[in-house]
Amino acid sequence: MSWTPRSWRNFSIKQQPIYPDQNTLQTVEAEIAGYPPLIFAGEARNLKADLARAGRGEAFLLQGGDCAESFSNFNSTSIKNLFKLMLQMNMVLMYSSGKPIIKVGRIAGQFAKPRSSDLEEINGVSLPSYRGDIINDIEFTSEARIPDPARMLKAYNQSAATMNLLRAFSRGGMADLEQVHQWNLDFIKDHALGKKYEELSDKIDDAMRFMSACGLEVKNIPQLHQTTIYTSHEALLLNYEEALTRKDSLTGDWYDCSAHMLWIGDRTRDLNDAHIEYFRGIQNPIGCKVGPSMKEDELISLIDALNPNNEEGRLNLIVRMGASKIGEYFPRLLRKVKSEGRNVVWSIDPMHGNVEKASSGFKTRDFDNILSEVKQFFAIHESEGTIAGGIHLEMTGDDVTECTGSQSCAITAEGLSSRYHTQCDPRLNAKQALELSFMLSDTLAKAGK
Ligand code: PEP
Ligand code: CO
Repeated sequence: MSWTPRSWRNFSIKQQPIYPDQNTLQTVEAEIAGYPPLIFAGEARNLKADLARAGRGEAFLLQGGDCAESFSNFNSTSIKNLFKLMLQMNMVLMYSSGKPIIKVGRIAGQFAKPRSSDLEEINGVSLPSYRGDIINDIEFTSEARIPDPARMLKAYNQSAATMNLLRAFSRGGMADLEQVHQWNLDFIKDHALGKKYEELSDKIDDAMRFMSACGLEVKNIPQLHQTTIYTSHEALLLNYEEALTRKDSLTGDWYDCSAHMLWIGDRTRDLNDAHIEYFRGIQNPIGCKVGPSMKEDELISLIDALNPNNEEGRLNLIVRMGASKIGEYFPRLLRKVKSEGRNVVWSIDPMHGNVEKASSGFKTRDFDNILSEVKQFFAIHESEGTIAGGIHLEMTGDDVTECTGSQSCAITAEGLSSRYHTQCDPRLNAKQALELSFMLSDTLAKAGK
């Protein structure tokens, strides 16, 4: 039972690359093990305390970002747009729920992807699947698909630079509530949705003026001028995660210092496999995806393996069943966890159970299904008397066309080809994500009362 950062190597493991060059792999692992951590353990503990609040219904988790970050689309504009979008959604959700919103990006490390098939076939040619930029290249050639350990170094460096910019935006003035109008993205501004956001911003301006009139020194209240955006990713490639696992000097506990929060994917959550072994030893707040195949007893065993002390804020269960399945499969899991008295934060990922192939051939998700799964998630919690603690989205601040539907864009199957940029799964664009936030307002306001 003794755990070390490398004890996962003694267990069977799914969804991993087979590196032909083991010498380079070991050199890269050693190099990253010597690099500075990307987060400080104290920050992970702060997030855990925040998530404990979400589990009790005193805060709400907003987790979102790319399905997969890429080396080729690495630029400050995309990072800034996602940051602004998260701030906008934060305002909408905070205003309606009356609760603090915990902002966690799928960013600064979200590079490794589980795949439904080991091989990809195009026009009769079959090659190993693309597994994310940290592992191999998306280009459809046999050379590009060979797993290359050196990609881990690039992923680390890109994550460090991304994290640096997020920290600068959070503390340097971009998140100042006095800038609330500036967060409106250019391509949304003139749209009805942008106008709706402007109205909300005006109310916030009024509230700030009112506080000043009451004699509060608005300038001296840091909460009004700064924010915190935490980072997260699926800890799929354990060679990388192990290299960034460090013992915290303050507590002596182990933390995965590649991100504040890590999660386990729906395909790698087998109780006896390597990912559970790795995750049980790190003290970060963690997530685990819960798909329609999850059984009640299996879930309790998983919870007990991952959170043996029943600590609040440690474990976020991310439900991803699909709009047509959540009503059938989720309530019994929820009842079981409730009756067994386990502390978890429930959040909803309405993306991964709602993938479909559009008539134009693109992999997509329809806005109505996404919204429907979210609404059902809230309704089920309401009828069970439990807490809907958060939402987990694949989204981008950029103006892409990857998911169909929504009032604000009305993207059709044919329209998907216009700006279909995702490296992996289809993301909500900024308008769709903001629209979803506004549509959740009433539900959140009701749940908050
Ligand atoms: C993901 O979040 O990108 C993902 C692959 O999810 P899941 O493990 O739920 O399929
Ligand atoms: Co995805």
